[in-house]
Amino acid sequence: MSGIHRIILNRLLAAWVIVSLTTGAVMFYLGVEKIDDQLVELAAQESGKFSTASLPLLNHPGKDRSALSALAAEFVRQHFIIVELYDKDRRKVAEAINPLHASIEDDLKRQSHSFPADNERHYEKYLIGGQPVLQVLLPLKDIQGGVAGYFEGIFLIDPETVARLRREMIVTLMIALFAVTLTTVCLYPVILSLNRDVIRYSHDLLRGNIELMEVLGSAIAKRDSDTNIHNYRVSIYAVKLAEAVGLKRTEIRDLIAGAFLHDVGKIGISDSILLKPGRLDEREFEIMKTHVTLGVDILKKSDWLQKARDVVEFHHEKFDGKGYRQGLAGKAIPNIARIFAIVDVFDALTSKRPYKEAFPFTEAMAILQRDAGSHFDPQLVDAFSRIAEALYLEISGAPDAEVEGKLQDMITRYLLPA
Ligand SMILES: [Fe+2]
Ligand SMILES: [Fe+2]
Repeated sequence: MSGIHRIILNRLLAAWVIVSLTTGAVMFYLGVEKIDDQLVELAAQESGKFSTASLPLLNHPGKDRSALSALAAEFVRQHFIIVELYDKDRRKVAEAINPLHASIEDDLKRQSHSFPADNERHYEKYLIGGQPVLQVLLPLKDIQGGVAGYFEGIFLIDPETVARLRREMIVTLMIALFAVTLTTVCLYPVILSLNRDVIRYSHDLLRGNIELMEVLGSAIAKRDSDTNIHNYRVSIYAVKLAEAVGLKRTEIRDLIAGAFLHDVGKIGISDSILLKPGRLDEREFEIMKTHVTLGVDILKKSDWLQKARDVVEFHHEKFDGKGYRQGLAGKAIPNIARIFAIVDVFDALTSKRPYKEAFPFTEAMAILQRDAGSHFDPQLVDAFSRIAEALYLEISGAPDAEVEGKLQDMITRYLLPA
């Protein structure tokens, strides 16, 4: 499975889990609320059988209350297990308990009992002995709408009703889960195609940046040698040395950009100095040194090209601190600039220039060894010595197109996304 598919699938899966859990929790909460409402309604319907004709009995203590007790006993034969009737002053006037559930009464005594101030229907739900019961308190209204008394019933919810309501809730949950899953499945191709577009655009942008790097590198090459081959070879040497010493992928990426652009500042050096066939005098050399600062200035125009900055700014520093432009020493010089300094000099030594012949490999290596510790980082010279010969045989005499091909492979590996 390709990277982008995996990323999208992982994120969609995470979204699916979160939305499912949230929806499930909300549906569950609403489901429980609905069950409660339905049960209270059921209890209210049952208690509605309390006939308004019986109401006057509640508030006339002189009258025979056995009729009320008989009425209460009627209720406890059905779903209610305890029924209590109160007069309008909230005094208990009758009570009936279903003998099969007498023990529940003891448990309920522990629950608080109070009359609400608003004279509305109220309920509490308890679990007693693992069985859900509802304690329902209903104000009994007379024909004028006044409160004539109260009916309190303990309503036993029969297991069948609970099971039915639970089944209904599970079905609702399953439907919600199915809807979330279906949405996720439908979203996948949409997100995938949107992402492909974004990736293509960012890929094009990156390609543009790499081209800019190559164009700038080749612009300076045109001025002093009419060929890009030095840039290509040093980039390959630098990457190989960086790989040999275990540099991170991002450091190697910056090193490639730096190798391409290390002398970009030479664009600002006049031909009389840049192309002078002989040695530069002191004044000319001072001007030549400014190519480092000019290079840093040129890179400031692009965020992406800042990757090259460490190499551009520090490629003429020396390990003993006697280089330019800042005179940094040792490990204060960035890693990739120390690597680059070695391969830049190595390629200059082993290449033919208008004013000199190419040094043989062994002689070039002897110069690097001689300057290890003064010009170069000795550990990096050691590492380079181990890979240099094979690398030199592979690259130095190879046709330009082949060298360029190898470098393009490295650009693809390190500058384009995995
Ligand atoms: Fe330079
Ligand atoms: Fe160079």
